[in-house]
Amino acid sequence: MKKFYENHILPALVHHVCAHEKFSAVRGKIVPRAKGVVVEFGIGSGLNLPFYNAQEVRAVIGVDPSSKLAERAASRVRAAPFTVELIARSAEDLPLEDNSADTVLTTFSLCTIPDLAGAFAEARRVLKPGGQLLFCEHGLADDARIAKWQHRINPFWMPFSGGCHLNRDIPALTRESGFRITDMETGFMDGAPGIGGFLFRGGAKAR
Ligand SMILES: C[S@@+](CC[C@H](N)C(=O)[O-])C[C@H]1O[C@@H](n2cnc3c(N)ncnc32)[C@H](O)[C@@H]1O
Repeated sequence: MKKFYENHILPALVHHVCAHEKFSAVRGKIVPRAKGVVVEFGIGSGLNLPFYNAQEVRAVIGVDPSSKLAERAASRVRAAPFTVELIARSAEDLPLEDNSADTVLTTFSLCTIPDLAGAFAEARRVLKPGGQLLFCEHGLADDARIAKWQHRINPFWMPFSGGCHLNRDIPALTRESGFRITDMETGFMDGAPGIGGFLFRGGAKAR
């Protein structure tokens, strides 16, 4: 039953939630900043692909362990006006050369990647000197009352959500992993429940 949920229901659920127009609105504010060779962590069903600026992007390498979500990405991969390569791997273990990417992009994935420090280390390794990390992620709210509920609900939420943490302090974890945040906006996403809707959106560079 657990396997059936993880292989069939969860990928459909993740795709449908992430395809909501509220998510599209925030994708449009971060994805067009990507340039050059882009490594996208947790590309999922490829919902960011239509938001890239084709004049600026040379290739997108999408890294995600979920083959079911990759199947759902196929039509967007075909439609992209730049090269897209999907790699069925974890962001903690990238089969990519050092200093080979201009941008690492993550949207709504840092909540789920199990070893975040390992993934950030890989982002630092593959980014060229001066390359940018772009992120749009949900995590620990700056409202103590909501944060308290995020901590309480997290253990019950994680098994049903493919390992998504409600309460990761994304900016703190980014800085602890050797990045300097260059710009960031935070706030609750319109219409989303508070415990899952506090967003961090911005850019960072390796220190
Ligand atoms: C909520 S979905 C977000 C998908 C996509 N980034 C988006 O914005 O629609 C989280 C994604 O992280 C992926 N993921 C989970 N563990 C991962 C890992 N270790 N490395 C890379 N991606 C991972 C999942 O398979 C899933 O596609």
